[in-house]
Amino acid sequence: MNFGGGGYMRVKTLQIPSEITALAELVASKDPEIILEIGTASAGTLLIWSHLAKKQVVTCDLRDMRHQAPLYEQLPPPGSDCQVTLLSGNSHSPEFKERVSEALKGNQVDFLFIDGDHTEQGVTQDYIDYKEFVRPGGIIGFHDILENQPLTTNQVYHLWKRLTPIAETEEFVHDRNQCGFGIGVLKVGPSGAPDL
Ligand SMILES: C[S@@+](CC[C@H](N)C(=O)[O-])C[C@H]1O[C@@H](n2cnc3c(N)ncnc32)[C@H](O)[C@@H]1O
Repeated sequence: MNFGGGGYMRVKTLQIPSEITALAELVASKDPEIILEIGTASAGTLLIWSHLAKKQVVTCDLRDMRHQAPLYEQLPPPGSDCQVTLLSGNSHSPEFKERVSEALKGNQVDFLFIDGDHTEQGVTQDYIDYKEFVRPGGIIGFHDILENQPLTTNQVYHLWKRLTPIAETEEFVHDRNQCGFGIGVLKVGPSGAPDL
């Protein structure tokens, strides 16, 4: 999960290998062209998405990523046509959503990974705001869906409990007794992801 580098240029992710591998395999099975990620952090998952998307990965974070841009934009493997678009700002602001829309140039994405604000209100807002960008048949991934979490601000499970009864979902959880982590996937139907 630590892909090397140092300081600002370290590429790493806080994921459980079996969970992120299962998600990556599901995403790969969709033959994705475009992926949208909320929560870049140290670009560990961006590295994975940039190896899977054929055209574009748009990744968003509160952090200013200007220093990392030269590295992150070169994460797609040699020969890939995938373009990495880094957007710094607050996913909850309408102006930021507009920037995401512009970056996608009117295209819908095959996969949306929501791994930014983990509070109940924040993750719910990201779902409501960004689900419209996912194509029918696409998927939405959520990180940290388990109820047992190390931080009280990790509240994704509240949203996950609302989604599982109203959508087709799948869970990748390494160990049901673990503290934290767990990935939930929502499969977007023909009429889009469900409203809450
Ligand atoms: C758990 S980390 C993402 C990890 C990354 N996806 C990975 O697994 O390698 C969450 C990131 O979301 C960012 N974040 C939190 N709230 C946000 C918001 N409202 N808008 C954009 N980014 C946000 C944080 O700055 C942090 O870098």
